[in-house]
Amino acid sequence: MSKSKPYIPLEFPPKDLKLEPFIKKIVEANRGVALFDGILRALPNPDILLAPLTTNEAVLSSRIEGTQASFEDVLKEEAGITPKNISQSLKEDLKEVLNYKKALIYGSQAVQYRDLSLSLIKEFQKILLTDVRGKYRLLGEFRKTQNWIGTPGKPIENARYIPPDPIILSEHLEYWESFLKSDDYPDKIVQLGLLHAQFEILHPFEDGNGRVGRLIIPLFLYWKGLISRPSFYLSEYFEKNRTEYYDRLLMITKNNDWSGWIDFFLTAVIQQAKINTDKAQKHLNLYNEMKDKFIQATKSQYAIPALDAFFRQPIISTANFIQMTGIPNRITANNVLKSLIDAGLIHLHKPSEGRKSAEYAFNGIIDIIESRDVC
Ligand SMILES: Nc1ncnc2c1ncn2[C@@H]1O[C@H](COP(=O)(O)OP(=O)(O)O)[C@@H](O)[C@H]1O
Ligand SMILES: [Mg+2]
Repeated sequence: MSKSKPYIPLEFPPKDLKLEPFIKKIVEANRGVALFDGILRALPNPDILLAPLTTNEAVLSSRIEGTQASFEDVLKEEAGITPKNISQSLKEDLKEVLNYKKALIYGSQAVQYRDLSLSLIKEFQKILLTDVRGKYRLLGEFRKTQNWIGTPGKPIENARYIPPDPIILSEHLEYWESFLKSDDYPDKIVQLGLLHAQFEILHPFEDGNGRVGRLIIPLFLYWKGLISRPSFYLSEYFEKNRTEYYDRLLMITKNNDWSGWIDFFLTAVIQQAKINTDKAQKHLNLYNEMKDKFIQATKSQYAIPALDAFFRQPIISTANFIQMTGIPNRITANNVLKSLIDAGLIHLHKPSEGRKSAEYAFNGIIDIIESRDVC
């Protein structure tokens, strides 16, 4: 590729990519995803137990693109208790993360009854970028202009990578979509790795390409039948290994190095499968352990609704707690909360202030999500 010229994609999927050297890793990656699915299938209430993983995926996939919002910031925003004095930039980050979560949930529901397709993908990009920074960008439509990847604000001459000319984009997107739909490729995880990279190489949108490209990872695995719920996420690995992630993508277009990318992608799946399995198992263990403790501490018919509320919103205001548990009055709710505090199961995060109700925190979930020392 000569400098400052848009990339012209080669044949996709790449015919010269040999899978034999990867057999061991392919087996290991498939086994890792299957083990994760084993836990998914064993979860008694997956919506509740998987909610923190989904939120965390939204945080980390957005963080790869530069947002600074933490898991806890997002929990507070969802609980309606974000402090008033946060910076404008954090406010915008929170909007982007919540949009990501919305797109992920929308996609998860959509793939239950629709095929994954370019038209669905355009909807994701629209949800992702609605009412966020840089409003002038095309929403839900493929680009009609030339874009490039490089240091923000630097001209195309300094680009690290220049995606294809918009004139040839639709042709290559058609090849991409037909490979997306194909069931003939020898391995679905490698197929997904190829699809993710080629999506980034085509960079079909003015913005949101990285996030949309990662959004489709759990959806594809579900849609192709590898997992029973679309909740296998990879962004944690990409975020931790961001430089290598970007370099491996660059090496594909620079040196036609698909092997290096596939090796990286399979390692990502293998490593992240262990972490995801461990986290899901820990959520399940925590839930089971807390079930008895919440019942003992509160001796209330609202013990399990209270536990579910804390799993859904690990930082929660009294008002939301009442609403989510269905507890009929404030006195009963306060009694339940007090007995949970006395038993050391939750703690007061912020006392009530004027008309603002108190906030409570359940640290178990946050500890599991933020622990980076698992495996
Ligand atoms: N050299 C490269 N070639 C192709 N894609 C790349 C390269 N370097 C980075 N990327 C991808 O581009 C994404 C950023 O594109 P962008 O459209 O800004 O996405 P977002 O708006 O989600 O930030 C990265 O997350 C990565 O997936
Ligand atoms: Mg961007």
